[in-house]
Amino acid sequence: MLLGHRRTDKGKNTDPMLPMRRIAVATTGGDAPGMNAAIRAITRLAEGADIKVIGVHRGYCGLIEGDFEELNSRSVSGIVNMGGTILRTVRCPEMETEEGVERASESLKKNGIDGMIVIGGDGSFRGAMALYKASGIPVVGVPATIDNDINGTDSTIGFDTAVNTALTAIDKIRDTATSHERVFVVEVMGRRRGFLALSVGLAAGAEVILVPEVPFTIDEVEQTLEEGRKRGKHSSIIVMAEGAGDSRLLTERIAKDLNYEARLSVLGYMQRGGSPTAISRILANRFGEAAIDAISHEKGAKMVGIEGNAIVTRPLGYAFERPKPFDLSLYTLSKSLAV
Ligand code: F6P
Repeated sequence: MLLGHRRTDKGKNTDPMLPMRRIAVATTGGDAPGMNAAIRAITRLAEGADIKVIGVHRGYCGLIEGDFEELNSRSVSGIVNMGGTILRTVRCPEMETEEGVERASESLKKNGIDGMIVIGGDGSFRGAMALYKASGIPVVGVPATIDNDINGTDSTIGFDTAVNTALTAIDKIRDTATSHERVFVVEVMGRRRGFLALSVGLAAGAEVILVPEVPFTIDEVEQTLEEGRKRGKHSSIIVMAEGAGDSRLLTERIAKDLNYEARLSVLGYMQRGGSPTAISRILANRFGEAAIDAISHEKGAKMVGIEGNAIVTRPLGYAFERPKPFDLSLYTLSKSLAV
C-alpha cells in the first residue's frame, strides 16, 4: 500500500514567512535511474505551487559556473522512463574547497535562488550542507544512489533498478556457471558499502556474498565452496561488492587452490544505467513531493527519506553523520539458504 506524504501546503505559495519563489534543482555525484522522474516531479509540483525551477547542469560545477536552464512542466515531458539525468552530473572536486563553496553560494544569490534541491548521494549532501552554511539558503537533499548507502532512508532512488539490473545479469551468469561447472565471482558496485551486493546476492541465491561490512578471508570462502562441493554442488556464484576486496585475486586463488574453473565477471557501469523500475520511479515521485513540501515550509538543511512506507523529512546531517546500519539478519539468511 502506498501512503501519501503528509502535505502541509495544499494550495499556492502564500506562506508569508517563507516566500519561496525560485528554486534550483541539481543532480550530483553518480547518476541513478529515477533521477529524471524526481526532476519531473519536483518541476511539476513546484509549478503548481507558483515556484520557478532553475535546473542546474552538471551538478555543483554547473552551479559554480552558472550553467542553468529554466524547467517547466513541458520541458520535463517524456523523461519519467529515462535512466541517467537530463541535467547531467559530475563529481565536482571544487565543491570540496572553501573557495568552491563560496562561488557556488554567490551563484545562488546572484541568480535570486531562494532554495535548492540536491538529488544525489551522501557526498552531494555534504556539499549541500556546506552550501547552506555559506549562503543561509535552505537546501533539501533527495537521496538518489544505486549504493543505497545514505543514512536516514531505507531506500534511495535507483537502488531497486540497480538490484534488478544486476540480478538479470547474474541469473544469466548462473546458466553458464551451471553448464560449465564453474565458480563465478561477480563483482557489483558499492565501493564503501555492501547494500547492493547483499540484496542482489540474496535474490540471486548466491552461495557467498562478500561485503565491506563483514570481514572475511579467502580461506573461509574456499572452505564454504569446498563444503558446497561435498554436498553435491558443481558450481557456485560469489557476489562481491567492489569495496569488499580484490575480486581478481580471489578468482585466481579459487582456481589455483580448489581445482575449479573460476571466472570473474565485473558488472560495472551497466548497473547505473537503464530505465528505472516502477519502485524507483514511485520513490522518485514521492521524494519529489516531499522535497517541494520541505523547501516551501522548512528552514535550514533537510533531507527526505522513506522509513517503512512513510515519507519522512529530517535534518540533512542525519544522512552522513553516522553510517547507515547494515542488516546482518539478511546476510545470515542468505548464508542459511546457500546450502
Ligand atoms: O554512484 C555510486 C557508485 O556507482 C559506486 O558504487 C561506484 O563505486 C562509484 O559510483 C563509481 O564512481 P565513478 O562514476 O566516479 O567512477
